[in-house]
Amino acid sequence: MNSILVTKHIDKHFHKPKDFHVLKDISIEVSKGEFVSIMGKSGSGKSTLLYILSTMDTDYTGELYLNNELITGKTPQELSRIRNKNIGFVFQFHYLLSEFSVIENVMLPAKKLAEKTHEEIENDAIEKLKMLNIGHLAKQRASRISGGEKQRVAIARALINNPSILMGDEPTGNLDSHNSENVFSIFKRLKEEEGLSLLVVTHDEDFAQRTDRLITMEDGKILQ
Ligand SMILES: Nc1ncnc2c1ncn2[C@@H]1O[C@H](COP(=O)(O)OP(=O)(O)OP(=O)(O)O)[C@@H](O)[C@H]1O
Ligand SMILES: [Mg+2]
Repeated sequence: MNSILVTKHIDKHFHKPKDFHVLKDISIEVSKGEFVSIMGKSGSGKSTLLYILSTMDTDYTGELYLNNELITGKTPQELSRIRNKNIGFVFQFHYLLSEFSVIENVMLPAKKLAEKTHEEIENDAIEKLKMLNIGHLAKQRASRISGGEKQRVAIARALINNPSILMGDEPTGNLDSHNSENVFSIFKRLKEEEGLSLLVVTHDEDFAQRTDRLITMEDGKILQ
């Protein structure tokens, strides 16, 4: 099977302030090299779902598989490792460490994984930065680059461990149209040239229409 990510009947409730059935019977599948977008009104459950898919939230029923391996039920230590190795995540806000240089920010998840030497990680980071056309900013402090550049650094950081899937929660939500277009092209190229799978929540209709497949959410459900 060529699925990178599969969910089977995921349900989730929030319990406070009162019971709220936020995700209802979510069964989705993302194939290798597929670029999938998720749209839906504010409050429909998109971010809640992404937290589960990215293994950060374990409070749900149903099953989550990554690379055909059942992820549901694993220990926090196992999840942390699986997440770091297999999943890249890009948020609306870049969450870079502003006192650190660009390259130090990109290197962090690889340092945490601790599978390569400092030099190897540094070379990998430079390669990612060059691929995103920001190689020249490697030594710059993260606080001293533009918003569009910061988001590209965040993408480089998400890619440093060569994940099998890149997830994004409104990764272009904070960017102007020029920089949004740039991020879209980067995602498309990663899919086409590296066979990366992508799952991206967006409010941008034009962005979503140009992905391989659009999943629409409404009131915690997938619309078929
Ligand atoms: N910790 C929580 N406790 C209770 N309810 C929550 C919690 N987090 C989110 N919710 C509710 O769950 C619903 C889904 O929230 P979620 O953040 O997943 O929406 P979303 O689709 O990402 O919306 P947006 O497009 O605004 O980001 C909302 O009604 C929200 O108010
Ligand atoms: Mg959200």
